[in-house]
Amino acid sequence: MKVDKGYVEAPVPEGIDLKEEILRIKNEKNAVVLAHYYTLPEIQEIADYIGDSLALAQIAEKLDNDIIVMCGVHFMGETVKILSPSRKVLVPDLNAGCSLADSCPAPELEKFIAAHPGHTVISYVNTSAAVKALTDVVVTSGNAMKIVDALPADEKIIFGPDRNLGNYINSETGRDMILWDGACHVHEKFSLEKILELKKAHPSAEVLVHPECPAPVRLVADKVGSTAVLLDYSQKSGASEFIVATESGILHEMRRKCPAKTFIPAPPADSTCACNDCSYMKLNTLRKLYLTLLHEAPEVTVDPSIIDRARRPITRMLELSK
Ligand code: 13P
Ligand code: SF4
Repeated sequence: MKVDKGYVEAPVPEGIDLKEEILRIKNEKNAVVLAHYYTLPEIQEIADYIGDSLALAQIAEKLDNDIIVMCGVHFMGETVKILSPSRKVLVPDLNAGCSLADSCPAPELEKFIAAHPGHTVISYVNTSAAVKALTDVVVTSGNAMKIVDALPADEKIIFGPDRNLGNYINSETGRDMILWDGACHVHEKFSLEKILELKKAHPSAEVLVHPECPAPVRLVADKVGSTAVLLDYSQKSGASEFIVATESGILHEMRRKCPAKTFIPAPPADSTCACNDCSYMKLNTLRKLYLTLLHEAPEVTVDPSIIDRARRPITRMLELSK
């Protein structure tokens, strides 16, 4: 068995039912599988819990399993490890990174903070553990507005790394937070023109937009919110058609929850594809999940010198989200 490439390389016996084997090993080892809404449908179907980043962090805090497998991206695995350092935390593929987290290296943020003394540092959960260790409060797209709003109006704030989410909060709250200039390669790509074309063809469709999308796309939204907020809205809304401007994995749960409604993925600007995928999230496959559970690798580790400092702003977020 090798993990040199960031995932387990080992043979899988021919003819086995991967889903059955995953369930068997999971029970045998007292393991639990968490999955983000952006993962492949078959991963979401086999997971014990699916959720957005906030829900996954809230669930992770309460788990007492010996092994926690995070089917999402690397920073989500780190968040679980930071909250539960005594557990074995596994991810099916360590290559599942995040372009947004990568847009904010800790040494650069440290210089940025030094250049803006006296500011409270708010970081989106899509960041490395090292960035969280430099942060006062972590937020997710599901609670960022509420947490920023709860701070005194004159508090000076650095917000990073997503400039679109930061800009959205500034425009909704009238704040003047200093923004880190980062973005997600998936959400930046949605095309306003293509959404408007879809809207012409489906005039009664409501437009659902993740706050990581740029301002022109958010302006045509009927609802802006985190993955879980958009999912909830699509269930409660009286509309029967929706144009969805976030990663296309969420459509699986939207369709499962509301089979009679129509969900149309918003396309990206620069391709002929009909939907927009996060290639990192899609690295979580059933085969890799099976091998991960079987061999208990690859494991997520967080530098012990930063784990306590990284936990503080996450715990603060969880407290403020109650
Ligand atoms: P959520 O906070 O909606 O889960 O979003 C996470 C994410 O990675 C968005 O791209
Ligand atoms: Fe990161 Fe964007 Fe993928 Fe979310 S969709 S995990 S922000 S790269």
